[in-house]
Amino acid sequence: MYLPNILYSQHSHSLKEPGNSAYCLKCHSLTNFAFYNNKNGDLSLRGLTVDTKLFSQSVHGKLTCQRCHKDIKEYPHSKAPAKVECSRCHTQIASSFAKSVHSQGLTGTNSDMPTCTTCHGAGNPHAIPKISTVVTTHDKMKLCTTCHADADLMARNHSSTEAVHSYQSTFHYKAIKFGATHTATCHDCHTSHNVLPKNNPASSIAPQHIAKTCAQAGCHKGANMNFAMSGASHLSAHIEEEPLLWFVEKFFIVLTLGTMLALCSYILLDIQKRFGWLKLGTKAVTSIVMFIGKIMYAVISKIPAMLRFLKHVLID
Ligand code: HEC
Ligand code: HEC
Ligand code: HEC
Ligand code: HEC
Ligand code: HEC
Ligand code: HEC
Repeated sequence: MYLPNILYSQHSHSLKEPGNSAYCLKCHSLTNFAFYNNKNGDLSLRGLTVDTKLFSQSVHGKLTCQRCHKDIKEYPHSKAPAKVECSRCHTQIASSFAKSVHSQGLTGTNSDMPTCTTCHGAGNPHAIPKISTVVTTHDKMKLCTTCHADADLMARNHSSTEAVHSYQSTFHYKAIKFGATHTATCHDCHTSHNVLPKNNPASSIAPQHIAKTCAQAGCHKGANMNFAMSGASHLSAHIEEEPLLWFVEKFFIVLTLGTMLALCSYILLDIQKRFGWLKLGTKAVTSIVMFIGKIMYAVISKIPAMLRFLKHVLID
């Protein structure tokens, strides 16, 4: 804490050149510059250092401090300076965001929801990087999964991590995992600022818009709704919402597993009858069984997507 500095600077006329950032940074670039929170007798410290290097490299590095901190002109500061709202300059983005599922982050009524600086600048309003230079596809995905894969956070908000798990079994995710940079991740389909639930007709994932969402940026040219709903949707069927689909999905899983199991047992028993499998070596047999098991799993995990495709083609 630099209390002596502050007391000294209050009396120093040379520091009083308000209107440029250098004036502000004389105090705010000091390392570990902190002050009492001072609200309701709260004596904890609040860091007030602005990292000049990060700030000058940031996307706002050319703006003066006062472009954002309008009502702070000199020290001592006004009693309660207004909070800086990103919406003042990024009007359109902020107004979409205010209507989205995450709006409570912006109003500060639910700290489990994101605010602008959750995704831009990792919480630091003075270190916001230019989108195109820093954020990779994988990083963009992480912007959503830090919350949507957090079981406690989701449970507190009456939801689950299913969206992330189900997305991770799709081709889009597998491709990203192997280094692809142009396959779809969360914000490509849900948008970054205008995220709306599927039952909202204005949502990018609503049946009315999903085909356009798939066709964006030349991804799936000429996609229609059947294609889109079978390929883009990543949630598993739920018994309460889609009982028939749920039942058929489970039935086919059991049926496939049962058939495969019977088949494998048959092969194993046959090998044993001909050669006596213990003589062949249990290890070798086990690894063959494991291999078949893995292939079975890969096939079975695609069943929900295939069923959804059939449902949309035959029923919808
Ligand atoms: C003489 C040192 C000094 C200078 C120069 C200075 N500040 Fe501060 N600033 C402080 C101190 C100390 C605080 C802690 C709260 C207080 O005393 O008002 C603070 C608090 C702040 C806060 C947090 C206010 C809040 O309550 O949320 C902001 C924002 C801020 N300063 C911006 C600026 C800007 C912009 C400038 C340039 C126009 C500037 N400061 C110049 C010392 C300084
Ligand atoms: C692009 C807008 C923008 C610019 C430019 C900007 N700030 Fe900030 N600053 C913010 C936001 C947003 C916050 C956090 C919300 C708030 O306290 O209003 C903040 C908070 C602060 C705080 C309080 C720190 C805290 O943790 O609460 C200080 C001190 C501060 N800014 C100083 C500066 C100084 C000094 C400069 C110039 C070098 C500057 N700011 C330039 C947007 C800006
Ligand atoms: C005083 C107006 C102002 C405020 C307030 C402001 N910005 Fe900006 N912002 C700008 C300007 C101007 C640019 C463009 C800078 C450039 O392209 O050189 C910009 C650019 C950006 C970019 C980069 C866009 C890109 O194409 O890469 C992001 C992200 C961003 N701002 C986020 C924020 C966030 C988050 C806040 C609130 C913490 C905020 N801005 C507050 C004026 C502002
Ligand atoms: C959940 C994460 C998230 C939140 C919250 C978020 N953004 Fe973004 N934002 C992104 C992503 C991802 C991109 C890049 C989109 C792309 O590459 O197409 C982006 C792009 C931007 C851009 C530059 C591109 C453009 O569309 O102009 C600006 C400016 C911006 N955001 C400002 C904001 C502001 C202001 C807020 C708060 C109202 C905000 N963002 C909230 C994730 C977020
Ligand atoms: C800071 C945490 C946080 C971040 C970051 C975040 N979300 Fe959310 N999101 C939530 C919470 C909390 C809810 C409310 C619980 C719910 O309905 O699932 C929610 C709700 C949603 C919903 C509505 C779900 C429903 O059942 O109606 C969608 C869709 C969504 N988020 C997608 C995204 C996408 C896409 C991103 C990244 C661009 C993202 N979220 C980033 C916390 C977050
Ligand atoms: C290829 C496009 C696409 C991608 C990529 C994608 N989603 Fe989705 N998502 C959808 C569609 C379409 C639905 C609606 C599913 C349905 O109707 O059954 C959906 C549904 C959801 C829901 C439930 C929304 C509701 O209203 O109930 C959440 C939450 C969600 N996705 C989060 C995510 C997250 C987090 C990611 C990234 C890890 C992601 N999605 C990636 C297309 C996508």
